[in-house]
Amino acid sequence: MTDATPSADGQTLTVRDDRTGKEYVLPIVDGTIRASDLGKIRAGDDDPGIASYDPGFTNTASTRSAVTYIDGEKGILEYRGYPIEQLAEKSNFLEVAYLLIHGELPSQSQYDSWVHDITFHTFVHENVKSLMQGFRYDAHPMGMLLSAVGGLSTFYPEARNIHDAETRHLQIVRMIAKMPTLGAWSFRHAQGKPYVYPDNDLGYAENFLAMLFKMSEPKYAADPRLVKALEVLFILHADHEQNCSTNAVRSVGSSQVDPYSAVSAGIGALYGPLHGGANEAVLKMLRRIGDVSNVPAFIEGVKAGNERLMGFGHRVYKNYDPRATIIKKATDDVFEVTGVNPLLKIAVELEQIALEDEYFVKRKLYPNVDFYSGLIYEALQFPPEMFTVLFAIPRTAGWLAQWLELVNDSEQKIARPKQIYTGDRGLVFPSREERWA
Ligand code: CMC
Repeated sequence: MTDATPSADGQTLTVRDDRTGKEYVLPIVDGTIRASDLGKIRAGDDDPGIASYDPGFTNTASTRSAVTYIDGEKGILEYRGYPIEQLAEKSNFLEVAYLLIHGELPSQSQYDSWVHDITFHTFVHENVKSLMQGFRYDAHPMGMLLSAVGGLSTFYPEARNIHDAETRHLQIVRMIAKMPTLGAWSFRHAQGKPYVYPDNDLGYAENFLAMLFKMSEPKYAADPRLVKALEVLFILHADHEQNCSTNAVRSVGSSQVDPYSAVSAGIGALYGPLHGGANEAVLKMLRRIGDVSNVPAFIEGVKAGNERLMGFGHRVYKNYDPRATIIKKATDDVFEVTGVNPLLKIAVELEQIALEDEYFVKRKLYPNVDFYSGLIYEALQFPPEMFTVLFAIPRTAGWLAQWLELVNDSEQKIARPKQIYTGDRGLVFPSREERWA
């Protein structure tokens, strides 16, 4: 036996290296072993030590985090310990954003000044507007958002000072405040409509709706049921622990770059169809099915492996995604205002059949957050390209909470995974004459 001190709670993993016959006792802490402990397992002096190979980080913890808890088997999602169902029912997005960033719920005065500060940072420098107006008429709004957020780092160069708590806080307030403005402008741009400035008399979601849809009326008044539905959607999308975009924010942030650049990396990750784009795929699928009578044949096709039932299944949830339950309920509220999206009937039928079918039951495939969200967004008159923008706006609170945790975590280092090199070595460079002769 050799190496490694046992963990505080005494749990250990004994590893025997069959190359040398040596045994190693590795401490187990929180159900993990330290990858660096594996590095102590060497076959000889020039052996760099064992490493783990984990493409896609499917079984590797990259951080300790107190922001979001998920139990995928039981279908539990909590922010800072509060169940998502309670937050969606009783809170609003800005209060949830405060909770994510600060780790606890605000007192009345903390809440008031948080809302005040966010509200009064909603405007952006006029040159940001010029920057956005420079995009082609048909620019994808997510590409515009990504560039605009990255561009903000040049307007606030002090943001580089990530070691100062006050400076960090100011950038967090600015970013949460400005995301709806930038998101709405990216939407208006594609429509050739003038950009609408923020209205600081309005709440966070209502102001966003105003910047999206206001035309010539002096004051935009959104239906409170739609405002509430949007608040709920924002709360549901505010964080989801170490997903692809959060990992991108943390990874880029680990270089100690400013938070605008780190968050724009997160927006880039969310832009991808495997992350933020599944609800658009759900809509396309529902349109293709076309009618409830075609659902059984479609399900048979899925079971035969011809295609996937989009909006079903999740890497983490092996139960009903708790966000899907809440969104399904929100569809009723939205459709009360907008009229029922005819695709809803097909979605409900698909869900009913799939939840009882052995294929889906055996594989623990349940509706995920994307199964119903596209239907709501469509009813709110958003084109599919806006869906990821609607995801990025609230997720900014989660990204920044995770970024803050990273900056304050003395254990974190610049992200730098290992590789297993599979290429050639030590070749002799032949001259062009030799190669092209
Ligand atoms: N329809 C039909 N079969 C499926 C589906 C589906 N939607 N999802 C998984 N399966 C099957 C899959 O074929 C496999 O079966 P078998 O064991 O016979 O080969 C089994 O279930 C396990 O699938 P997997 O691909 O190994 O699971 P994964 O954890 O790698 O994939 C997933 C998770 C979300 C990519 C996948 O379920 C999927 O493609 N779903 C549809 C797309 C979708 O809705 N994505 C949104 C995810 S939620 C958004 C977010 O939180 O970021």
